[in-house]
Amino acid sequence: MFSTAAVDYLNFHAYLWFLGAACKPSAIPNFLCFCLQGLGANGIRLTMESALTARDRVGVQDFVLLENFTSEAAFIENLRKRFKENLIYTYIGSVLVSVNPYKELEIYTKQNMERYRGVSFYEVSPHLYAIADNSYRSLRTERKDQCILISGESGAGKTEATKKILQYYAVTCPASQQVETVKDRLLQSNPVLEAFGNAKTLRNDNSSRFGKYMDVQFDYRGAPVGGHILNYLLEKSRVVHQNHGERNFHIFYQLLEGGEEDLLRRLGLEKNPQQYHYLVKGHCARVSSINDKNEWKIMRRALSVIGFNDSEVEDLLSIVASVLHLGNVQFAADEQGNAQVTTENQIKYLARLVSPLNLEQAAYARDALAKAVYGRTFSWLVNKVNKSLAYKASCRSTTVLGLLDIYGFEVFQHNSFEQFCINYCNEKLQQLFIELTLKSEQEEYESEGIAWEPVQYFNNKIICDLVEEKFKGIISILDEECLRPGDATDTTFLEKLEETVKNHPHFLTHKLADQKTRKSLGREEFRLSHYAGDVTYSVAGFLDKNNDLLFRNLKETMCNSENPIINQCFDRTELTDKKRPETAATQFKNSLAKLMEILMSKEPSYIRCMKPNDAKQADRFDEVLIRHQVKYLGLMENLRVRRAGFAYRRKYEVFLQRYKSLCPETWPTWDGRPYDGVAVLVKHLGYKPEEYKMGRTKIFIRFPKTLFATEDALEVRKQSLATKMQATWRGFYRRKKFLTMKRSAIAIQSWWRGTLGRRKAAKRKWAVETIRRFIKGFIYRNHPRCPENEYFLDYIRFSFLMNLKRNLPKNVLDKSWPTPPPSLCEASQLLRRLCMQNMVWTYCKRISPEWKQQLEQKVIASEIFKGKKDNYPQSVPRLFINTRLGEEEINTKVLQALENEALKYAVPVVKYDRKGYKARARQLLLTQSSAIVVEESKIKQRIDYSNLTGISVSSLSDNLFVLHVHCVDNKQKGDVVLQSDHVIETLTKAAILANKINNININQGSIKFTVGQGKEGIIDFISGSELLIAKAKNGHLTVVAPRLNSR
Ligand SMILES: Nc1ncnc2c1ncn2[C@@H]1O[C@H](COP(=O)(O)OP(=O)(O)OP(=O)(O)O)[C@@H](O)[C@H]1O
Ligand SMILES: [Mg+2]
Repeated sequence: MFSTAAVDYLNFHAYLWFLGAACKPSAIPNFLCFCLQGLGANGIRLTMESALTARDRVGVQDFVLLENFTSEAAFIENLRKRFKENLIYTYIGSVLVSVNPYKELEIYTKQNMERYRGVSFYEVSPHLYAIADNSYRSLRTERKDQCILISGESGAGKTEATKKILQYYAVTCPASQQVETVKDRLLQSNPVLEAFGNAKTLRNDNSSRFGKYMDVQFDYRGAPVGGHILNYLLEKSRVVHQNHGERNFHIFYQLLEGGEEDLLRRLGLEKNPQQYHYLVKGHCARVSSINDKNEWKIMRRALSVIGFNDSEVEDLLSIVASVLHLGNVQFAADEQGNAQVTTENQIKYLARLVSPLNLEQAAYARDALAKAVYGRTFSWLVNKVNKSLAYKASCRSTTVLGLLDIYGFEVFQHNSFEQFCINYCNEKLQQLFIELTLKSEQEEYESEGIAWEPVQYFNNKIICDLVEEKFKGIISILDEECLRPGDATDTTFLEKLEETVKNHPHFLTHKLADQKTRKSLGREEFRLSHYAGDVTYSVAGFLDKNNDLLFRNLKETMCNSENPIINQCFDRTELTDKKRPETAATQFKNSLAKLMEILMSKEPSYIRCMKPNDAKQADRFDEVLIRHQVKYLGLMENLRVRRAGFAYRRKYEVFLQRYKSLCPETWPTWDGRPYDGVAVLVKHLGYKPEEYKMGRTKIFIRFPKTLFATEDALEVRKQSLATKMQATWRGFYRRKKFLTMKRSAIAIQSWWRGTLGRRKAAKRKWAVETIRRFIKGFIYRNHPRCPENEYFLDYIRFSFLMNLKRNLPKNVLDKSWPTPPPSLCEASQLLRRLCMQNMVWTYCKRISPEWKQQLEQKVIASEIFKGKKDNYPQSVPRLFINTRLGEEEINTKVLQALENEALKYAVPVVKYDRKGYKARARQLLLTQSSAIVVEESKIKQRIDYSNLTGISVSSLSDNLFVLHVHCVDNKQKGDVVLQSDHVIETLTKAAILANKINNININQGSIKFTVGQGKEGIIDFISGSELLIAKAKNGHLTVVAPRLNSR
């Protein structure tokens, strides 16, 4: 019945509040799970019971919870308390009791409507929106037609309630363009029907003078798509007569007050209601509480919304006007006593029609016509509204929700046929109410297997039977009198009644009454003891009103009318139909029977309206009046029935869910059957056997105080539970966070370790592969290149090249070179050569001409002496210099003698005489063409290079050398023995200048030389400890050359 999702949602919010909103929004989904885990996910109607906790606020919201439920005083006191606080709604179970506040309350706002939308019945304070919403939801979820029965006496607020419910649906139901139109028409049908069907009475300034049952059709989406109205018995007599202080139907006054001048002129009307007989009978055409002008505007707009065009409106209003005109038709008797129309604006046809009648009959005929015209127009109007509300796509399935707003029980000073019908209708509704409420209650006890003691209540079936029974009922007797040939009158009807139902306990007349009560009854009256109280009816007019006849010629005339509405209202077939039409009472009875059928087929909800005082005043609570209504509405019985058994019932699951925290065995979860859980729970709570009963699916608690005690215990428990839940939740939340963080940390760690491990493993694998390839390559290293050794060879090559790159020889003298692997020997050699070339080339590029010369000389020296003469190595590191003697050290005469001959080299030497080997200091000068021996200023000997046949030196470390000279003439003195400290340098230069590189002889042992004229000298060379040059005994020159370490 209730939307579980909605309830859960609410519960969830309730818990959020309950927990002091301790959690963050982000935690909500988890929190919800947590809550639902802890408390069970099944729709806990928490707030339903939480409404109970508000019970101390103002009385009880549900009379069922009233401790002293049999006390009418307590009942009324509760009503009063709440009424004083403007709490006009109270439940009896699912029945809503409403007390008319007679003032505007701020409880019908849109926000308030939203509060009730989709919310479970008990979750919010009692309201007719709750009833409306509940019915609507049942309609949608169960697809069962619903009806809301609104009852109560005149002025109790039925019509207001109906309108408010319609407004609620208009605001809260789904909408669309088409639906909006329907909603508008549904809402706007009210002002139109109220203008034509409502009037000011003594009881109510806006009293509905017809019964109304309105069906609202909903489509599968729950949107209102159409409607239909059934109307019941309009109080037509009001058209022609009103009691003192009452008015005719609103429309007459609205038209006169609000109608535009033009319109009024066309209708021949004057603004002043006092001009019209039908409007002055009650002597109160103007009422302060009613703004006719405003209402007129509203009504006119409503007519357009419903679909009236201008000419239809005019047709309708001209009927209203004609009724007023009709009322003003006055008669006077002519000589024969026949009626004559005397009014100025005579209507000729009317005069003709009424002419055979007497004065009284003429007035009667006039009034009958006015009533008939108005009554039928009203029915036409309802039809017209129905057409505009009709759901066009009628083939589609719809569900309907009916709203019954029917006239309430009425007791006046003078009660007539109308009151009789109205009160009979109320009897029928009461009967329906009793049947349905009792039945459902009883069915519940039966289905739950609970022993049920029937409650004594007054069953008004006996009164219904008294009115409607065939042959014996009042209506039957009335009809019989109407149809009976002969002189039937109201009095004969009364006599007949007395005769037929005289023994009925609810029927009384003057004749049948005892002495005491007789005084309160007139002779023309009968009294019915209705369920709501005694009502005395005057039989006057009963027959006429029941016959509801119109003179045939009047009917005929109306059939000829050119007004299209009247034309539709008066059908010609009526004239030819011989069959007597049904009497008003029978028609009413039949339509009521149909209504009961309609209502029985639907699921009913009840709103019981009450009026707090007769003065229509706010804040006045008339206890006597209220007590009376409480009584006749059967509210105490209603409550007794509800409470006869048990004040409170709830499904085991729901009960357990709510209260399980109160018992350690059921908290936090009960694993067994809910039934057993509840049994354990109530035992723990100490329920006494008489306090409760266990049904098949529900627990029934007899006294509210038992439930309240349980509720109070829960309230206390909630506090500690809330703290506990908060703590648990916080712990849970923190722990969850901690675990998440821990998990994350572990995940990161393991991932990282995995990555490291994988990296290491890959590295190892690679290393193993490399080593393996290396070893294999090593094994195959001498094979031609093949897959097994290619890596190794490449590596070797690479590492050799890299090694080579790092260890290249620094200079040409550096002979180091890494050892190449066998496969690279050739390349290595090529590289080495290249490298050397490169170094040489670079070296050469850097070399200066002087140095080049030096090196060339050194190279020559090396060619000549290397490995051949002992003191050569000593000369290597010593640079050759250009000359050992500067020009200033040479005698100028010598220089002059040389003339232009450029001096290439000069060195001090020691000359050994050819004979005697005397050592003499000389200078040796070398020019381009000759070597010159100089003594001071004298050139001792000039040796042309062409004459120089060779040069001899020893292989030892001495500095002696011999220049061999070709002796062609005597000028030549022979070979020259010289000694130079720089022998290698001197000889190299000489060899180069003389181009005698190949002519230097290096001798072992001794050198022979010519002394001139064929004579020979010999120089012996021996090694010794130190240099010694001396003439030996054998005449040879002996040279002892020191042994050098290098050798
Ligand atoms: N809920 C309400 N809030 C404010 N005023 C209300 C409320 N209900 C009724 N009234 C007042 O009471 C008056 C009578 O109410 P309403 O016309 O609904 O009575 P009723 O039960 O339909 O009577 P009847 O049987 O005569 O038609 C309204 O015109 C309005 O002034
Ligand atoms: Mg009403």
